[in-house]
Amino acid sequence: MAQQVQAVIAPGRNEPVRVETIVIPDPGPGEAVVKIQACGVCHTDLHYKQGGINDEFPFLLGHEAAGVVESVGEGVTDVAPGDFVILNWRAVCGQCRACLRGRPWYCFNTHNAKQKMTLLDGTELSPALGIGAFAEKTLVASGQCTKVDPEVAPEVAGLLGCGVMAGIGAAINTGQVGRGDSVAVIGCGGVGDAAVAGARLAGAAKIIAVDIDDRKLETAKKMGATHTVNSRTTDPVEAIRALTDGHGADVVIEAVGRPETYEQAFYARDLAGTVVLVGVPTPDMKLELPLLDVFGRGGSLKSSWYGDCLPSRDFPMLVDLHQQGRIDLAAFVTETIGLGDIEQAFARMHDGDVLRSVVVF
Ligand code: APR
Ligand code: ZN
Ligand code: ZN
Repeated sequence: MAQQVQAVIAPGRNEPVRVETIVIPDPGPGEAVVKIQACGVCHTDLHYKQGGINDEFPFLLGHEAAGVVESVGEGVTDVAPGDFVILNWRAVCGQCRACLRGRPWYCFNTHNAKQKMTLLDGTELSPALGIGAFAEKTLVASGQCTKVDPEVAPEVAGLLGCGVMAGIGAAINTGQVGRGDSVAVIGCGGVGDAAVAGARLAGAAKIIAVDIDDRKLETAKKMGATHTVNSRTTDPVEAIRALTDGHGADVVIEAVGRPETYEQAFYARDLAGTVVLVGVPTPDMKLELPLLDVFGRGGSLKSSWYGDCLPSRDFPMLVDLHQQGRIDLAAFVTETIGLGDIEQAFARMHDGDVLRSVVVF
């Protein structure tokens, strides 16, 4: 039996979001209905609302979520009703070249639920990143559900579904930060702070946080930064070099998504160092670098997409490490809010004080 639940819809470009009743079909083959317990508010939700992703309004927003599987469709064996899960937006196919070569985080063939959730009048909804979890319940592909320790607080677990995983993964998966490394993180919002926390987890000896806002640098210290640089007043490349005996950092993570900060990252790395781009640029942005400077260095330039994560490997591990007190994911939760408060959460997003607002049910 299809069921009706409350959910947050973005009805049209730049229109305020609103709470509406939506219809969730019973799960079909390969699908699951998940009762959402918590869902973080991410910049991508705001981009959807602004029409910056595509024009397939109305959107069902929300994609950083955790909850309990309520029911599963035919053939679903990976999760069962009652399982506590984190949702991911990259359910991999298992059959493409990337999957078959053991690098599923490069899978191009990811999938979501086939059936559509709708408004009461039958209008089909586009779930943000194929999830749509600002809703009491949502319909996903079973491969979007990853079972983790149910003892963890849902508002903490949900954050691993997007931004926090992107940042931690940029450090531990893409950057391959190792014990004793020096790491610099440029841009210390939620993603950059997660990269700082990831670098600490990986055993980095020096973690240099760079931002233009002193309040962000204070938070970065709590996440594990050993040094901070305000790049509004200090040249970050010189500062990072000075802090690394003139060498530059072994791994520099760019978590802003701008050409000038990428350029800083490029020049702030050790000759054999790695630059990781995790900040998302806009289509108009271009990078201009003297080719001789690229030639004159070894190392590597990488981008990190969803932290190159493998949910089945990384979500349970990070939840366990959090439960053991070895990484503090709760520090990313600034406030918990209700379904009706998302518009205010969008407005506060660029406040220096908010890392994540999380809707709890
Ligand atoms: N130099 C250094 N830091 C900067 C600069 C700059 N020129 N410009 C902005 N910042 C800082 C901001 O002060 C802020 O702390 O970058 C941080 C960006 O943080 P948020 O806006 O909170 O964004 P976040 O969620 O962390 O995402 C960062 O990663 O996933 C992508 O789309 C996301 O591109 C965005 C980036
Ligand atoms: Zn694949
Ligand atoms: Zn997100």
